[in-house]
Amino acid sequence: MEFVVINGPNLGFLGQRQPEIYGATGMDALPGMVERLLGDDAARIRLTQFQSNSEGALIDRLEEAWKVKSDGVVLNAGAYTHTSLALADCLAWIRIPCVEVHLSNVHARQSTIRHKSLIARHCIGAIAGFGIMSYALAVQALWQRLTQP
Ligand code: DQA
Repeated sequence: MEFVVINGPNLGFLGQRQPEIYGATGMDALPGMVERLLGDDAARIRLTQFQSNSEGALIDRLEEAWKVKSDGVVLNAGAYTHTSLALADCLAWIRIPCVEVHLSNVHARQSTIRHKSLIARHCIGAIAGFGIMSYALAVQALWQRLTQP
């Protein structure tokens, strides 16, 4: 199976960006975490990673995932989570199983705009608050949903 891990704006320097909020670990740790979590099953998953600060490029990448029939998407849309009707519209039609992910526990954060997600209703679920492990847990959730429906 092929899963695309998509990171939105300001997520290109994970490990360095406000580590007290987003953690000190970068995305390069993800494959190892997935292997530890999924064991032998990890070898049956191809993970592709993509990051862009641009809303349009994120939509282009999601459309690409639809074109090539990717099996699942793990999406941290960053601040676009809370503001982008365009991303929500894209997820609504491509209908690829998508897990919304956040490094921080957005629901426990002070700025209440972070408590709202425009993309949540187009996702099969959401995981927030576990740093890079949020992505690994999302990969595991996608894998289980698609192999043991
Ligand atoms: C984030 C949370 C968003 O509110 C914020 O704008 C981000 C990162 C997270 O992973 O915790 O850029 O998506």
